[in-house]
Amino acid sequence: MLEKQEGLGRPTSTHAALIPIKKSSAWWSLTQEERRKIFEEQSHHTAIGLKYLPAIARKLHHCRDLETEEPFDFLTWFEYAPHDEPAFDQLLSELRTSPEWEYVEREVDIRLMRSISN
Ligand code: HEM
Repeated sequence: MLEKQEGLGRPTSTHAALIPIKKSSAWWSLTQEERRKIFEEQSHHTAIGLKYLPAIARKLHHCRDLETEEPFDFLTWFEYAPHDEPAFDQLLSELRTSPEWEYVEREVDIRLMRSISN
């Protein structure tokens, strides 16, 4: 996957999406192995995502804190060229119909457009 993945900040990637995600307590009460099975074997998250590389560049931030209840567990960030937005929407609809997403309690889909280039 690393070979196919491109970095953030490509000049042509003027569009972006910031999608904060909270997974349910049911998800977090599963073992790591059970979560891996749902993510990989049942939902094919990586395999689905791979189809959209290198058009979509991604960055995943973990922000789950066991001590304090946080509004989101992950902040996901994606960058792409405007003509790849339909592909990005297709990627999202594939992921959202997967078993993994039954554990997504809340997500906010925020789209952004770069106004200056540097
Ligand atoms: C662009 C194609 C994508 C690829 C290749 C991809 C691949 C991966 C991989 C390999 C992981 C495991 C952690 C890591 O190595 O970073 C991961 C985790 C994750 N991805 Fe994606 N992904 C893609 C798109 C997306 C999209 C569009 C979303 C949601 C809007 C998303 C949400 C997440 C979340 C929330 C996790 C953490 C899951 C957990 O640990 O419970 N990914 N992704």
